[in-house]
Amino acid sequence: MAIERILRHLAVGSLCFALFSVGMEAKTKVTSQPFGKTPDGTSVELFTLSDGAYEARIATYGGVLVSFKAPDRNGKAADVILGFDDLDGFVANFNGKSVAYFGALIGRYANRIGHGTFILDGKKYSLPLNNGENSLHGGPHGFNNVVWNAKAIDNGVEFTYLSKDGEAGYPGNLTATVRYTLVKGDLRIEYSATTDKNTVVNLTNHAYFNLAGQGDILDHQLTLHASRFTPVDAGLIPTGELKSVDGTPFDFRKPTAIGVRINADDQQLHLGHGYDHNWVLDRKGTELEEAAELYDPGSGRVLKVLTDQPGIQFYSGNFLDGSIIGKRGMPYKLHAGLCLETQHFPDSPNHPDFPSAELKAGQRYHIITVFSFSAR
Ligand code: GLA
Repeated sequence: MAIERILRHLAVGSLCFALFSVGMEAKTKVTSQPFGKTPDGTSVELFTLSDGAYEARIATYGGVLVSFKAPDRNGKAADVILGFDDLDGFVANFNGKSVAYFGALIGRYANRIGHGTFILDGKKYSLPLNNGENSLHGGPHGFNNVVWNAKAIDNGVEFTYLSKDGEAGYPGNLTATVRYTLVKGDLRIEYSATTDKNTVVNLTNHAYFNLAGQGDILDHQLTLHASRFTPVDAGLIPTGELKSVDGTPFDFRKPTAIGVRINADDQQLHLGHGYDHNWVLDRKGTELEEAAELYDPGSGRVLKVLTDQPGIQFYSGNFLDGSIIGKRGMPYKLHAGLCLETQHFPDSPNHPDFPSAELKAGQRYHIITVFSFSAR
């Protein structure tokens, strides 16, 4: 009898332990705190997502990924994202002369639209210009420069923003939702949008990564799963050609240190002042696939980028010149960080041959990008 009772106790005990372990595993801690106010007095919140080893901090201003802490191969954590210590830093930069878009959500249209014009359903739209004669990253008042509504969700935070019909020159009331979640080093960004008029949309995140947490990114080894890229003109607008990377400094099909060819005598590198181009991803289908891998041999940190988008903009921080003083008083010098912006090709609304960035009234835009961190 006694043995039977003991056995029954043990069984109940292990069941409780099993349930407890399952419960313990699933959750990423999500908290929020005030992050200050924008100049017009709007309160901004800062969300912290922590899964134990990794931690992301994201602001309701611009949906900015403010920091991302990741362990190196010895378990030592560093912040691998460029930006500022406080809200004022972001607000000043995003409203200043050389906007760097640190960590921000970009919309309505990531990257450039040539001459700031496009024709949709026979009607010509003119956007405010903010990059020479072109429109860049949604124009002077893009999604990086608004305060999003936010609520905590499982393992993350959900942002919403209503961009009104005609805002920044684009047609349609566009309701955008962006969900950031963090699970075991995977920062997943899920973008969706609906519109009440036909429009164009291209959303991304503009985080600058430096997997060493300091210095420059020239020793980082980059792999891009892309056999072609879209060459640009002097204004960084695609010429329309899809050019093979074969035999060019744009071939990253095998892991290659960024610094090896960045100063090569190549016309496209001259035009971009380094790498600032869209690669045409070699896709198998329309689902989430690995687009890029970034590896820092010094720290062992690895970033894999997975996406369902057709292109990726690799920007090697060519406009950083030390004049921006970032986190912990760090001047962000040339190539202090790099961006891997998953996207539709730049200027797609003016290139009928490119995958279409049109969103029709009543349709739902829904795309996913995952920044997956690890170390080896
Ligand atoms: C994008 C562009 C670059 C530059 C940065 C922001 O990556 O392609 O040319 O404008 O944003 O500085």
